[in-house]
Amino acid sequence: MSTKIAVNAASGKMGQQVITQVISHQSVELVAAICRAEHRLLGRTVRTTDVNYTSNMSAGLKQSDVVIDFSLPEATMQLVQRAVQNKKAVLIGTTGFDKAQTEQLEQAAKKIPILLAPNTSIGVNSTLALLAMAAKMLGKKADIEIIEAHHKHKIDAPSGTAIRMGHTIAEAMGEKFDELKVTESRFEKRIRKSGEIGMSVIRAGEIIGEHKVLFALDNEIISIEHKAQNRHCFAEGAVAAAIWLATQPPGFYSMQDFLSAE
Ligand SMILES: NC(=O)c1ccc[n+]([C@@H]2O[C@H](COP(=O)([O-])OP(=O)(O)OC[C@H]3O[C@@H](n4cnc5c(N)ncnc54)[C@H](OP(=O)(O)O)[C@@H]3O)[C@@H](O)[C@H]2O)c1
Repeated sequence: MSTKIAVNAASGKMGQQVITQVISHQSVELVAAICRAEHRLLGRTVRTTDVNYTSNMSAGLKQSDVVIDFSLPEATMQLVQRAVQNKKAVLIGTTGFDKAQTEQLEQAAKKIPILLAPNTSIGVNSTLALLAMAAKMLGKKADIEIIEAHHKHKIDAPSGTAIRMGHTIAEAMGEKFDELKVTESRFEKRIRKSGEIGMSVIRAGEIIGEHKVLFALDNEIISIEHKAQNRHCFAEGAVAAAIWLATQPPGFYSMQDFLSAE
């Protein structure tokens, strides 16, 4: 049986990429493409399908098993409220949630299945496993720097993926990321303290998403890197995880939960 998928923020770069993946995937069906009220796409047909772009979120949700969302935190919070009312699963690829918003998502996940993934690419999630391994072996001896680069339109910084990498590294070392992270070190006149995890951010051009972690020892450097070549890798992982999420009980899930269940 095919999984019925609604796409929120269907007009966005990722929304469009997810639609491409849903249309080409054999075991899913696009049932709704949701846009903001008064968007120029409203009423138009989504490519080769018989689905029209709509701003009627509740109607779109009602037809679906799961909704995929890549938008902005405010838009995601509105969507999740409606999804709870309609008892629908939500896969969230949006990044940049603050602590209060994350807590609200955790509360909502007591009522519906929610998968929150700052990065839905299978490659990035494999990279997290490599980072945990490296951090266990080298973390206490190395200077660790997480360097991320994205396009000039990206609003949040450091990226959700860079933050997730930091948490993964710190946990593997038995530490708390919030106590080790340093985001402003380049602008302070001081030498690097041992044990800190530095975060470096680049925003330029149309870079899709690049993450590199350096484990720098005195005489050698180990570097673990992931580069997205296009947005397809995010859409592919999001749709695969959404199919899984649609069959799960209420809960707050991650890509790791999906990948380890496969
Ligand atoms: N998890 C991952 O693997 C991954 C990968 C890439 C990107 N992302 C994240 O996904 C999000 C979207 O990225 P993108 O590159 O697709 O951005 P984008 O092209 O700017 O698209 C943003 C979408 O959100 C909609 N939107 C913005 N504010 C809204 C509001 N208040 N109410 C309803 N809709 C609203 C926009 O609608 P309009 O067209 O009407 O403005 C648009 O459809 C970002 O948070 C980004 O960091 C995550």
